[in-house]
Amino acid sequence: MEKKVTDFKSCLKAMPDILVSCRNNEGRNNALAVGYACNCSYEPHMVMVGIVPSRYSYHMVKESGVFVVNLVNEELRETYAYLGSHSGRDEDKLEKLGMKLGEGVKVNAPLLLDCPVNIECTVVDSIRTGSHEMFVGKVEYIHAREELINDKGGINYNKVNLLKFR
Ligand SMILES: Cc1cc2nc3c(=O)[nH]c(=O)nc-3n(C[C@H](O)[C@H](O)[C@H](O)COP(=O)(O)O)c2cc1C
Repeated sequence: MEKKVTDFKSCLKAMPDILVSCRNNEGRNNALAVGYACNCSYEPHMVMVGIVPSRYSYHMVKESGVFVVNLVNEELRETYAYLGSHSGRDEDKLEKLGMKLGEGVKVNAPLLLDCPVNIECTVVDSIRTGSHEMFVGKVEYIHAREELINDKGGINYNKVNLLKFR
């Protein structure tokens, strides 16, 4: 079967639809939608999130050295769309949406309590790949809703009803 060259853009699918929450040194909280995200080490446990330097959140993660990955379910579709299309530079998005916030156990960053799973991370490295800076985060603590935890202590992802935004 014949093949032709195609558009190169974001060629790996599926991309996860996660929210990254963060806090700056003045205590201001924010969150943005992120599709450039993946696991990147099994031992130690690490994940990677890609943030464009022009995002308001970028400077928060840079200066604090921590972030929280929040898994998103279908119920939060509108919230996700808002956080992914408005900037914390212009308004307090989390307050505007009335989002419930919790405190990290290991990191100084907000947990989005409306999300079923919150993964606290410490930045251990970052690489500017091009449009994005990929922040490598060591997983420090995971909060999961009780009903999502399987009998081995892990997350039953089939029960999360993960958002598929696009
Ligand atoms: C589905 C979706 C995926 C996105 N993925 C990313 C991403 O991987 N990295 C990024 O920097 N911005 C991404 N964005 C855009 C940001 O979420 C958006 O620009 C947001 O308004 C930035 O907020 P902030 O300025 O408050 O940080 C995505 C947006 C959507 C809707």
